[in-house]
Amino acid sequence: MNSLPIDKIKEMKNEITRFMMMYRFAISEIETKIDILKDEFHFLHDYNPIENSISRVKSPESIMKKLYRKGGDLSLQYIKENIKDIAGIRITCSFVSDIYRICDLLQKQSDLKIIEVKDYIKNPKPNGYKSLHVIVEVPVFMSHGQEDVCVEIQIRTIAMDFWASLEHKIYYKFNKEVPLSFLEELKEAADSAALLDAKMERLHHEVNAIKHEKED
Ligand code: GTP
Ligand code: MG
Repeated sequence: MNSLPIDKIKEMKNEITRFMMMYRFAISEIETKIDILKDEFHFLHDYNPIENSISRVKSPESIMKKLYRKGGDLSLQYIKENIKDIAGIRITCSFVSDIYRICDLLQKQSDLKIIEVKDYIKNPKPNGYKSLHVIVEVPVFMSHGQEDVCVEIQIRTIAMDFWASLEHKIYYKFNKEVPLSFLEELKEAADSAALLDAKMERLHHEVNAIKHEKED
């Protein structure tokens, strides 16, 4: 069997390392944008629409699994063009209106290109899943030049996030074959979370209105 020359292996290893680094840099760019929005909002309105944000870069193992599931070339170029959630950021907000506000503010940034918006809040998944998914492309400047890198941003309320994390655990606990009774209860829980979101948002507006009346 012919073995790959050591230089070729080193070159491939470097290429993969730089590929993964590119996604970390893309996340840093978006995180900086989120931090700026947070700080400015706090300064201007004494209020923070972003409760929390977490990010992750998909592991090479998960990338390969997805590639295998979806089919496709085993090339970095193909992976970059077809797997758009290698870099992911999840933002949690207190209120549904904040979700759209954040999305709107990101859309207005001239260096971000919006590739896709999936609104699972207006159109929830049949299981009750709600979240706003935005895939953006952000320029990353590397030593060899500019790379436009996709980042999947999931924006949801704390209640939606609570539901999604439990649903995710249940889904894997039952090896993706969740019994009907659990599915029904999860759907009910999603509806309760939506009611809670609506109620909290209404209360928030009422409190704000009273605060403004007092200020006038
Ligand atoms: P993927 O191939 O998994 O990326 O699916 P897709 O391309 O159809 O994307 P979609 O926007 O539907 O979902 C992407 C991500 O959203 C998933 O990887 C999860 O993090 C999250 N997600 C989507 N649906 C659900 C769901 O029903 N429950 C939970 N807990 N998370 C979900
Ligand atoms: Mg995904």
